[in-house]
Amino acid sequence: MKIINARLRHQPSLFTLECEEGRFSQITAQDTTLNSPCDIDAKGQLLCAPFVEPHIHLDAVLTAGEPRWNNSGTLFEGIECWALRKESLTIDDVQQRVYRAVQLLIGQGVQHIRTHVDVTDPQLTALKAIVPLKSVLAPYIDLQIVAFPQEGILSFPNGKALMQQALEIGADVVGGIPHFEFTREYGVESMRWVMELAQTQGKLVDVHCDEIDDGNSRFLEVLATAALETGMGDRVTASHTVAMHSYNNAYCSKLFRLLKMSGINFVSCPTENTHLQGRFDSFPKRRGITRVKELRDAGMNVALAQDSIQDPWYSLGNGKLLRQVDFALHACHMMGYDDFKTALDFITDNGAKVMHMADRYGIEVGKPANFIILDGIDDVSVIQKQGDVLWSVREEKVLLERQPAMIKQQVTLATI
Ligand code: FE2
Repeated sequence: MKIINARLRHQPSLFTLECEEGRFSQITAQDTTLNSPCDIDAKGQLLCAPFVEPHIHLDAVLTAGEPRWNNSGTLFEGIECWALRKESLTIDDVQQRVYRAVQLLIGQGVQHIRTHVDVTDPQLTALKAIVPLKSVLAPYIDLQIVAFPQEGILSFPNGKALMQQALEIGADVVGGIPHFEFTREYGVESMRWVMELAQTQGKLVDVHCDEIDDGNSRFLEVLATAALETGMGDRVTASHTVAMHSYNNAYCSKLFRLLKMSGINFVSCPTENTHLQGRFDSFPKRRGITRVKELRDAGMNVALAQDSIQDPWYSLGNGKLLRQVDFALHACHMMGYDDFKTALDFITDNGAKVMHMADRYGIEVGKPANFIILDGIDDVSVIQKQGDVLWSVREEKVLLERQPAMIKQQVTLATI
């Protein structure tokens, strides 16, 4: 496959990319625009590595309103609604919804997905439905599965055994939810147990950590200390960490030293967290997003994710990660030109680091020929336009081709 007239991130010239046997074989800078035979003429648009969705709950997608709507909009009513919906889960129900959601994600240029799957279900129905899809969907996406104890590990009957069983069935990552455990002691103990399990099984860790507006919820320091002391470091991800929004600045400053030393990753879900958090506030209402800008500026790895597509916690969502970037730039006060210039990092390279797949991700000779072409010439214009994904290609196979909108009636001074 040959692609001409592509613009790469942070490069001034156009490029020709050649691929062989599903990998990039040559990447060459062009002196001028080419008009030669090719498979794809990028027409000067931005070619970059596919978008990465590092935090979504595929088992719950497309269930908003079933069996009832989350009327309060709180995380906890969401968990109640989901507990009701879980009773009617079947393998076919889960798989049909996952297919529809993956289709939406592919349509938005995503090729790498980390899904949390609720394992606080004695039957483990959702997990059993999704594990086989890893190989079925491999031609289209990479799927990483987190064993996620939605209702707690120590606070749910047989919680530990269910987690262990989930890993045996095929989960890749060990999850946790310390702030939802019955007591702080259970939360701390759950973190110790999660890290030990991951170490003995050689798994990654991704914890729903302090997803609550309680500034006293401080399991992040427990997780980061464990990551530091065990040497697990960047194999560990702290998702949400919204309590950090409410920490006092003196504590947060002290915490940042530990976080940086630990090397852990962060995932923030901006639309979901703003929707779910601040629900117990009058005015002013907290935004509930972790300190994305401050973590990034301190040199830590932060990725953005959607969390939900139309489920009991968030009834909107369409697979478009650019929406998350747009929202985070606004809500986290990252509206400077320098912020825009690297904004796509949040949904590309940073997510790849979270998924621990940086060695096979990126536009480099020898790496898999996975890429997208966006309507825009660089991060800034893609963000400004919320530019569509025009092409998505995976190991030379075209997953998606989209024509840019054509305006049929040009507005001119004469027509006004
Ligand atoms: Fe989540």
